[in-house]
Amino acid sequence: MKAGKLDIGSKLILAPMAEITDSAFRKICRDYGAGLTFTQMVSADGVIKNNFNTLRYLVFSRQEKPIGVQVLGREPEILKNAVNELINFQPDVIDLNGGCPASKVCKFDMGAKLLDDTFQLGKIVTTMVKAAGNIPVSVKLRLGKNNKKINIIENAKVCEENGASFIIVHARTREDKYSSQPLMHWVGEVKQKIKIPVVVNGSLFEPAEIVKVLKDTGADSAMIARGALGNPFIFSRFNAIYETGTDPGSPSLQEIKSVCLKHTEYCTSEMDETAAINKMKKHIIWYFKEYKGIEFLMDKIFSVKTFNVLIELIDEHINNIDNEFYKNDTTEDFRRKFNEKVIFWSDN
Ligand SMILES: Cc1cc2nc3c(=O)[nH]c(=O)nc-3n(C[C@H](O)[C@H](O)[C@H](O)COP(=O)(O)O)c2cc1C
Repeated sequence: MKAGKLDIGSKLILAPMAEITDSAFRKICRDYGAGLTFTQMVSADGVIKNNFNTLRYLVFSRQEKPIGVQVLGREPEILKNAVNELINFQPDVIDLNGGCPASKVCKFDMGAKLLDDTFQLGKIVTTMVKAAGNIPVSVKLRLGKNNKKINIIENAKVCEENGASFIIVHARTREDKYSSQPLMHWVGEVKQKIKIPVVVNGSLFEPAEIVKVLKDTGADSAMIARGALGNPFIFSRFNAIYETGTDPGSPSLQEIKSVCLKHTEYCTSEMDETAAINKMKKHIIWYFKEYKGIEFLMDKIFSVKTFNVLIELIDEHINNIDNEFYKNDTTEDFRRKFNEKVIFWSDN
């Protein structure tokens, strides 16, 4: 996919995810072949006020490029000022969040609430595009408010007319949140109606499925959110299918261990050991989500405080899996809950 100066070839995109797509996780996904990654959403207001908590989410290193930053806001003037600040970071894309369904966001007319007013969305996009100069602006959209009020075609067109370089379509409505089946045919319809690149998003968990969705919808790339949690391999496997036609399959337990360690090392390079271990706990659980014994791991990891103990626990868990120690299999249940519910972000 090409958009302005940005060219990610045939590669996939890591979605913005609050409290997840920090530098360490973005680097891991990049190592495994993501073509573009995003910071989590930051508030335009926070950017302008130089709020510490906002700015720290935006920090990225040169090795992480190409990288996109995502901004949340509703007033064109505030978004313009925020973009004026954001361009100093020299990101490769500045994305407008038009998809967050959380009520704490929508009640301020931001996120997926922007979908209700196509005219205002156009005004926001045009202002951001002017302020961004030669940095591409993208918009992340949902299909509309609900199944009776799908207005993705109008919103996609207004983004294009006002200078957006590409759009990302999360193929669900605001009221659908995360668990419903994505309505991918809408992405195909959008693709027919506009010329700028279209990125498809929504419950893409398997590399072969991504290939099929890209083919069926004609989308230019796919954005992966939950499918990348504990699974940066989704990027390398997709790239392998694209390049060789063959899926190398799931990683070995030793490869999972080495990713856990690398990911932890990336975290420890940015924060102290305790903070890094705490941050890594959810990731380690996700890395092992396809294996039996997940409840053992969740139980034990809670009390881990040092890197050495973490390695011991991972070794013990791998050993238990190899020796078929776990009799009770709750992986299906865990995976269902994981795929249905957004644990950290959504407000219900
Ligand atoms: C934990 C979590 C945090 C998220 N944070 C953001 C965010 O900051 N900005 C955004 O546009 N979408 C956010 N999303 C939505 C994802 O980017 C994505 O659109 C959505 O999860 C659908 O993709 P999936 O079905 O592959 O998970 C978040 C999703 C999750 C699971």
